[in-house]
Amino acid sequence: MSAIEAHGLRKVFGEIVAVDKVSFAVEEGEVFGFLGPNGAGKTTTINMLTTLIRPTAGSARVWGYDIVDEPEKVREVIGLAPQELTVDDELTGYENMMLHAALYHVPKEEARVRVKEILELMELERFANKKVESYSGGMKKRLEIGCSLIHEPKILFLDEPTLGLDVQTRAAIWNYIRTLVRERGVTIFMTTHYMDEADNLCDRVAIIDYGRIKAIDTPSRLKSSIGGDLIELEVSEINGLVIGERLRALPGVVDVVLDSERAVVKAVRGEEVLPAVISALIRDGVSVRRVEMKKPSLEEVFLSLTGRRLRDENGVKEEITRRNIAIRRARS
Ligand SMILES: Nc1ncnc2c1ncn2[C@@H]1O[C@H](COP(=O)(O)OP(=O)(O)OP(=O)(O)O)[C@@H](O)[C@H]1O
Ligand SMILES: [Mg+2]
Repeated sequence: MSAIEAHGLRKVFGEIVAVDKVSFAVEEGEVFGFLGPNGAGKTTTINMLTTLIRPTAGSARVWGYDIVDEPEKVREVIGLAPQELTVDDELTGYENMMLHAALYHVPKEEARVRVKEILELMELERFANKKVESYSGGMKKRLEIGCSLIHEPKILFLDEPTLGLDVQTRAAIWNYIRTLVRERGVTIFMTTHYMDEADNLCDRVAIIDYGRIKAIDTPSRLKSSIGGDLIELEVSEINGLVIGERLRALPGVVDVVLDSERAVVKAVRGEEVLPAVISALIRDGVSVRRVEMKKPSLEEVFLSLTGRRLRDENGVKEEITRRNIAIRRARS
């Protein structure tokens, strides 16, 4: 049994096809990510899998339970840290967690033990009795993730776990997520529009755009699927013609571009081709001054699959998030 199995899952809002027949499986203990831009259908997919909304068509099983026929069963085995924070600013971290425990009917004694454990795990114990309004964005997010763990879920859904946080805080949250997987064996389904997050954290990534899955694979296979690494060599004066042919003939080399003091070699597996490239150059009396190898990033993968850059939309997205947070603050 897979931890999550989705078959042709679809959600339509009026004219908008938010999620268009997505199918995938997530294995137990895996960190599985949906990577896609603003409006791609990531949250809508999470909302269906966590039984908050019903699919228009298709089906899915979460821990073996049908999301439409057995929503209560599904809810027992999952935790959800939604995109928008739900922790209460007026309460302390401890109170927020106890409230969550009560919502999940965890007996009080048991809850106290678990809350303490989770606060330690999330390194929030020092702030447990401080009001959440004094927390930083990263602490709030950790508390939110902590709350979603109170009933010891098998599968944790994290919708944009590091949205709008600074680089260090994001890296810290990645570590908490890794700890959860390692120490508690939790299966993670997460969404992100950050390429580095998908790359660093996910065992497998589904690239989603306009509600459709464009590719599913490990980050490294996705990256190697687009044709290769770039090896850039700074060299002494070269006789382009001869060297070019010799480099092109090496196994694994896809393309070679030369100018007088530079050679750029595109190769399927750069790290395996690099030694042969250097030997060939040296054999022909060319000295190599500097080598740089560039692996394609998920950004390039997204571009090659959709014809658009993912990065362009991040600025806009973060702008929207900041605005929403400001509006919520103003309202409360
Ligand atoms: N309740 C709703 N009613 C109408 N349209 C909706 C609703 N929820 C989502 N949509 C639309 O469905 C599409 C997918 O939205 P969704 O929130 O799933 O995207 P997302 O990938 O999570 O985006 P983001 O990165 O901004 O969180 C968008 O076009 C959105 O406007
Ligand atoms: Mg979303």
